[in-house]
Amino acid sequence: MMYCKTEEQIDKMRVSARLVSHTLSLIAAELRPGITTRAIDQQIATIIRDHGATPSFLNYHGYPFHSCISVNDVVVHGFPSDRALQEKEVVSIDIGVIRDGWHGDHAYTFVLGDPGPQIMQLIRITKESLYKGIEKCIVGNRVGDVSNAIQELTEKKHGYGVVRELVGHGLGTSLHEDPQVPNYGKRGTGPKLKEGLVLAIEPMINLGKKEVFTDSDGWTVRTKDGSVSAHFEHDVCVRKNMAEILSDYAPIEAAERKNPNLFTAD
Ligand code: MF3
Ligand code: CO
Repeated sequence: MMYCKTEEQIDKMRVSARLVSHTLSLIAAELRPGITTRAIDQQIATIIRDHGATPSFLNYHGYPFHSCISVNDVVVHGFPSDRALQEKEVVSIDIGVIRDGWHGDHAYTFVLGDPGPQIMQLIRITKESLYKGIEKCIVGNRVGDVSNAIQELTEKKHGYGVVRELVGHGLGTSLHEDPQVPNYGKRGTGPKLKEGLVLAIEPMINLGKKEVFTDSDGWTVRTKDGSVSAHFEHDVCVRKNMAEILSDYAPIEAAERKNPNLFTAD
């Protein structure tokens, strides 16, 4: 079942999405080699609760942390741990909140020092593919148009591995609603996009091959070939002429540029 939201509901979802953006921006200011991902997870929980919201990932199908912190070859669902981050590591941070009954869920990939041109290009192109997908989030298009736009840039043009097992999704009073939004697919196929549909679009793109596996912890998804993976996610409302991005990378990118420990793609 796909739920189209009213303007009042979209207003609430924008607040939830921006709380995730704000949280990611505060974390972006703190990132440095030596910090443990457990410390980051604790800070995330505190920020969310201080804003009167609840971390939505905790206990979701038994997930045991407040955020997913996925380093290097970890694609998504990485467990925060006592291991300290190191220079040149690629760190995707995915955060979900529930505020006033509505979900926000988005992610950003950071790099701690220059990991070299190949990895920087992967990160730049993965982010660009997210916006290519978002451009297609207008009334009358189909989910396959969004999926295809992401796949064209990442797989067809750059030869990256597009993860098949994990997909974007509808978002609302549940973390995962219909429709599923794969990062691969055919133009003109799949469900039709309607005004007020809110989608979490999240390309998960590997520098190497597309195959992934899940660790013995039951959650951590890694690339089979050990290559680095990037992940960006936005919460997007389908509109008539131009998609509306409810989340906001501007504060995150500003914090990223200001933090001398972080390397930026531009
Ligand atoms: N952004 C991810 C998703 O939409 C986060 C889910 S992590 C979980 O699936 F722990 F909550 F499962
Ligand atoms: Co998501």
